[in-house]
Amino acid sequence: MRTRKFAAVAAGLTMAFALAACGGEGAGSGNDSTDAPAGGGETAAAGDQTIGVAMPTQTSERWIADGDAVKSQLEEAGYTVDLQFANDDIPTQTQQIDQMILQDVDLLIIASIDGTALTSQLDAAGAAGIPVIAYDRLINGSENVDFYVTFDNYNVGVQQATSLLVGLGLLNEDGSENPDAPAGPFNIEVFAGSPDDNNAGFFFNGAMDTLKPYLDDGTLVVPSGQTEFDTVATLRWSQEAAQKRMEDLLTSTYSGGEELHGVLSPFDGISRGIITALQGAGYGPTLEEGLPVVSGQDAEIASVALIDQGVQFSTIFKDTRKLATESVRAAEAFLQGEEPEANDTETYDNGVKVVPSYLLESDIVYADNITELLVDSGYYTAEQVEQGS
Ligand code: GAL
Repeated sequence: MRTRKFAAVAAGLTMAFALAACGGEGAGSGNDSTDAPAGGGETAAAGDQTIGVAMPTQTSERWIADGDAVKSQLEEAGYTVDLQFANDDIPTQTQQIDQMILQDVDLLIIASIDGTALTSQLDAAGAAGIPVIAYDRLINGSENVDFYVTFDNYNVGVQQATSLLVGLGLLNEDGSENPDAPAGPFNIEVFAGSPDDNNAGFFFNGAMDTLKPYLDDGTLVVPSGQTEFDTVATLRWSQEAAQKRMEDLLTSTYSGGEELHGVLSPFDGISRGIITALQGAGYGPTLEEGLPVVSGQDAEIASVALIDQGVQFSTIFKDTRKLATESVRAAEAFLQGEEPEANDTETYDNGVKVVPSYLLESDIVYADNITELLVDSGYYTAEQVEQGS
């Protein structure tokens, strides 16, 4: 948003001096105060503009795919891209964003690690007139979040719980009641994502609202009694932490011969940790051989292969290519001095304001629609699905 940017001339100069004082050469930026049209209002060509893209981690393949998709689509549109991954380490991410602001990037696209830890970075971005797009994860506690591109996160949770109910035979894949459903009761355990990630609560609420009637009428039982978000959350979405919690649950609650039938998992990495713990305790190794039904999210290739092999039951496919396209569309609008088109202006309150959002739809992946959803769309090749990499 050049107009807003030029309105912050003083802040921009401060940044330029700071840059000079730090000895930063600003290479690749080439778009600092020198190319500012005197009157403002004019938009610079894409080729002169740099976009900072901050992604959380490379340990999960989805974020690598996101980073690649955003970078390549921005480059195709003619922008220069500074793409950084932060190893799931908050100070690393704040430093990367500080650096981008110091280099006077024209716009920031940020998938935060901790949605509440970026307030001072966003203050600085706001002062410098740099528009900020929150990518997939909302950034909380700041008015300087200009737009949010994501999926319908509550509905992702609904889909996760739906797939669990399908796996237990209570629903059909189209979501309708199975008239021949087994009576149950079924023993389940529930896991949530990282408590510092705004999405985790949306996934969990969507899922628990969907499971509630079945919990209320006794079709589903949580033998551990652990159903509160804070108790079942998994910091940084860690596979190891999830495996450990599942092992602990098996010891504390299932060592007397009780059988576990299903596990609500909010993310494929967590699902694989859970499955490892279950197999280690003698379940399975496949669903057919008694492995509990485990849900997931992100259609990570390792989990898609497990679904194909009848080990993990389901995942949620969020097409990162589409998310990248929406973020590029929003970026282009801001850089042309316009407001990007939102399709939700109510749901995502970050504590300071409701952030205009563009929400995409997701799909449930089962063994029988892997080809249709993931291979035919070109997301993976059949070989990748077979090899799991
Ligand atoms: C969430 C994201 C999920 C999953 C998770 C762990 O913020 O919406 O799709 O990727 O992080 O990385």
